[in-house]
Amino acid sequence: MPQTLSKSEALEEIRRSFEECQCCPLCETATNIVFGEGSPDAAVMFVGEAPGAMEDRAGRPFVGPAGKLLTDIIEKGMGLSRKDVYIANIAKCRPPGNRDPLPEEIRECIGFLWKQIEVIQPKVIVALGKIAAQSLLETDAPITALRGKFRESRGFKVMPTFHPSYLLHNPAKKREVWEDIKKVMQY
Ligand code: URA
Repeated sequence: MPQTLSKSEALEEIRRSFEECQCCPLCETATNIVFGEGSPDAAVMFVGEAPGAMEDRAGRPFVGPAGKLLTDIIEKGMGLSRKDVYIANIAKCRPPGNRDPLPEEIRECIGFLWKQIEVIQPKVIVALGKIAAQSLLETDAPITALRGKFRESRGFKVMPTFHPSYLLHNPAKKREVWEDIKKVMQY
């Protein structure tokens, strides 16, 4: 008799399936794979670009300065806890020197993220920044054109917004992100 896995078990199975992943060269320089974390039943999923230095060391997404800002958006802005949502990245290994993940690295990695999304079935995916938005929506439109409107990809609602790292350098843009997040909460 085939047994149905719980969402946590299904996520664990995906995590195990690429523990030894050598699909792209990023595994050669990464300290840890940053799989993602949060509630398997999350209604809202946040997707960033790729782990930075602190995430690489911790094996957890968004734990550096940009992570602190994302946590504030979730906790102070949305009134949720990080444990209520799910946080992941397009690329699960850190690109050296914090460069953007390359198109071929994204191509190799994004299938794992889609498997996570299929298991979690979030009501909304918030795509943080250009790389996440363009990769999830399979477009090369600029983030300034994409942000603030619900889009659809593979049957999932996607809200692109600015990346928290961008907000650290451009705090005036926080207002636009808050507008986007309010739409997510209303939905
Ligand atoms: N920036 C990202 O896009 N993801 C992280 O996990 C951390 C910083």
